[in-house]
Amino acid sequence: MADYDLIVWNDKLVTGIDKIDEQHQILVNLFNEANTKLTVNNSAEFLEQITRDLLSYALYHFETEEELMQKYGYTEDIIENVDTHIRQHRSFSIKVVAVRNDIKAGILISREDLLAFLNSWLINHILNTDQRLAVFLLASEQYCLNSQV
Ligand SMILES: [Fe+2]
Repeated sequence: MADYDLIVWNDKLVTGIDKIDEQHQILVNLFNEANTKLTVNNSAEFLEQITRDLLSYALYHFETEEELMQKYGYTEDIIENVDTHIRQHRSFSIKVVAVRNDIKAGILISREDLLAFLNSWLINHILNTDQRLAVFLLASEQYCLNSQV
């Protein structure tokens, strides 16, 4: 059983966009919870619950980010960045849905495979893809005006 470290929230993960950072912390907590609670042998019921919670919160979070992209014109910026970003959101959902379909069919993903996927996806996406969106938003006059309290 490979062991994965818990993700410790740190400055490198902070994008500077409050709403995104708050939601990322919840996603990281969901990962850490899965990491702590998964054992070598998990019931289908438990795997279903963990993947359901992750998927539903991830979908909500993707919606938030994609709304920000639309609202502040990221979708009209560098098209390659936007495409990559949306593609990563969709591929996360597709993978988790596939894992859930497998679970329903009696094929249970291992702790190691689930944690490896979640860890690399989350870290790579937050550190690279989301940071690019954040840089764009922080440079947007309109975003800065709207986010001032
Ligand atoms: Fe994202």
